[in-house]
Amino acid sequence: MRCLKCKGTAQIELRQHHAAYCRDHFLDFVRSQVQRSIERLKMCDAADTVMVAVSGGKDSLSLWDLLHGLGYRTSGLHIQLGIGDYSRESREKTAAFAQERELPLTVVSVEEEYGASIPVLARAVRREPCSACGLSKRYIMNRAALEAGATVLATGHNLDDEVATLYGNVMHWQTGYLARQAPVLPATHPGLVKKVKPLHLLTEREMASYALLRGIDYIVEECPHAQGAKSLLYKDALNLVEAQSPGTKQQFYQGFLERLRPLLKDGDGAQLRECERCGQVTTGAVCSFCSLWDRARLVRQPVP
Ligand code: AMP
Ligand code: FES
Ligand code: ZN
Ligand code: ZN
Repeated sequence: MRCLKCKGTAQIELRQHHAAYCRDHFLDFVRSQVQRSIERLKMCDAADTVMVAVSGGKDSLSLWDLLHGLGYRTSGLHIQLGIGDYSRESREKTAAFAQERELPLTVVSVEEEYGASIPVLARAVRREPCSACGLSKRYIMNRAALEAGATVLATGHNLDDEVATLYGNVMHWQTGYLARQAPVLPATHPGLVKKVKPLHLLTEREMASYALLRGIDYIVEECPHAQGAKSLLYKDALNLVEAQSPGTKQQFYQGFLERLRPLLKDGDGAQLRECERCGQVTTGAVCSFCSLWDRARLVRQPVP
């Protein structure tokens, strides 16, 4: 197998692109895909300060490496969820990455900042850890980016993540979620930070190869609560189809972005306002993050 660019020995074959590349040309391919997404969708430019949400996994660390390498002004945000060894190792890998490159990193510990780790919070409110975790991450990401004065928040969602989410949203006809599933969410209120997903067209396999070839030390284990998650089932199902018919995932996702999403109404028209407790943007009087903690405190400290 030969590299499409230099005819040297190829290291990776990308069947969905009918291409194969050597190490250097594969890294160029990933960089140019990211740069093209950023420019085409106006994700960020040289004037922006980009906060990269980094979990310590291959996608988000590679994203930080890519954005920094492409010359954008970046800082990192790591949310310490308090999920045992998994969280400890995530933090260590993230901190080591930032330190080696002398990049600024903000760490927000859910337990230190709000009083309980994600597993304790989830137990208190009798919710699945992943649902309490997702809500908390979204809240903390926006808040931390605002407080840091960042103009853009970037996450490491890759094509497989986006396609699995799309598949789940279509399976359950979650039209509200479908309307909000986008590679760029503009800041529609001064209290909201623009959110971008520069890796949305790169596959999980491409990102794992990128991290490996760049020598990025990332946490390989998945979160223990992700086991049995629907998103993993959807990924497996979609990979089965992709193996028989390369390019299906990309077609499904891009078809959605180009044909269906423009027809969906973004948001339910609800007025945005500030949460009475924390001042963050919400549609009700109290935001869902504060309500979650209210419920958790009621359970943990019963009123006599
Ligand atoms: P996930 O929701 O775990 O699939 O992660 C999606 C993206 O959210 C990752 O690529 C990161 O950009 C971000 N993210 C996930 N977990 C964390 C974390 N603990 N701290 C900061 N960012 C995170
Ligand atoms: Fe949030 Fe697993 S990463 S529950
Ligand atoms: Zn080559
Ligand atoms: Zn609030």
